[in-house]
Amino acid sequence: MYSLLFQLLFRRMDPERAHHLAFAWIRSAARVPVLRTFVAAVLAPRHKELRTEALGLRMHGPFGLAAGFDKNAVAIDGMAMLGFDHVEIGTVTGQPQSGNPGKRLFRLVQDRALINRMGFNNEGSAAVAARLAARNPAFRTTVGVNIGKTKVVPEGEAIADYVTSTERLAAHADYLVVNVSSPNTPGLRDLQAVDQLRPLLSAVREAADRTVTARRVPLLVKIAPDLADDDIDAVADLAVELGLDGIIATNTTIARDGLGLASDPALVKETGGLSGAPLRTRSLEVLSRLYARVGDRITLVGVGGVTTADDVWERILAGATLVQGYSAFIYEGPFWCRTLHRGLAARLAASPYATLADAIGAEHRKASS
Ligand SMILES: Cc1cc2nc3c(=O)[nH]c(=O)nc-3n(C[C@H](O)[C@H](O)[C@H](O)COP(=O)(O)O)c2cc1C
Repeated sequence: MYSLLFQLLFRRMDPERAHHLAFAWIRSAARVPVLRTFVAAVLAPRHKELRTEALGLRMHGPFGLAAGFDKNAVAIDGMAMLGFDHVEIGTVTGQPQSGNPGKRLFRLVQDRALINRMGFNNEGSAAVAARLAARNPAFRTTVGVNIGKTKVVPEGEAIADYVTSTERLAAHADYLVVNVSSPNTPGLRDLQAVDQLRPLLSAVREAADRTVTARRVPLLVKIAPDLADDDIDAVADLAVELGLDGIIATNTTIARDGLGLASDPALVKETGGLSGAPLRTRSLEVLSRLYARVGDRITLVGVGGVTTADDVWERILAGATLVQGYSAFIYEGPFWCRTLHRGLAARLAASPYATLADAIGAEHRKASS
């Protein structure tokens, strides 16, 4: 049914307009308690066996919404209603900014992919912090807060920009993510180099600890799939050295591998980050490499090209404690999480593992035994 709706309604519509329309529906539905309860009962039935503990947090399952969909924290409850076990908001920057001009989101339908050059359009950390502070505490969705650099801030002042956002947002975050991997902010990905990343992550850690004293806010870093293998290892080692809580692998790619011949060559040439199915192989590879390096010392979050329950299961076996998705939601629609949860519960039941936690990284243990 969704694919029919997609064909009729969304396919011809500008992708960003379609996003705003769908987003408005989700937000409206979530505001009406009876409707929210009904939709959640249909789309987000709980599976006890999928309960997940990660980053010191308890969640209904391992599958969350990746950053970029709800940049301003306006639809957290709506996305939880659709079945996401956690919602990562952002990327939020120190100052509000409108992002890149013109058309900036493209659908490669045949490839089940997207290209975007949104450029961190968001209301800024002060406005987003105020919105998070006003949330109804009765809704206990796990909320990750993803922060990035304001475009107009010079690279030499990047740390101060991240620290400002941390001071404003850490108190409202179940976990905090330093995003240094989006391809659409000039110079941002250079911050992944260890000599730049070390002072940045240390400063954000210090700011989070100074601002929130009642608990330790888990801190993660999100990396690009385009890093060379040695650089992935270097980030992994740094994460261990700094006592970081997690690594999210991966953001979108500037590569154009894995695209079929069916996609419009003009679209393929659009500048921006590619996400969805063509990213699957590389994101899985990066995750697996990270797990081989850090084992269970650090929580790994697998994201990039996840579409089916098999994909989620594969990420868990490769070392992910949490898994996220974004692009496939556009193509699969509102029943996506329900299908994933059901399929995942079936994979677990058919596996030799008693719990999801037992399955994390199992592929590596098999390989070495
Ligand atoms: C339109 C769009 C906007 C995005 N914006 C952000 C963002 O602001 N911050 C971020 O960390 N990742 C952002 N991402 C990347 C996703 O969080 C995710 O890492 C990536 O899309 C790979 O997952 P997927 O293949 O399931 O989409 C964005 C992705 C898309 C498609």
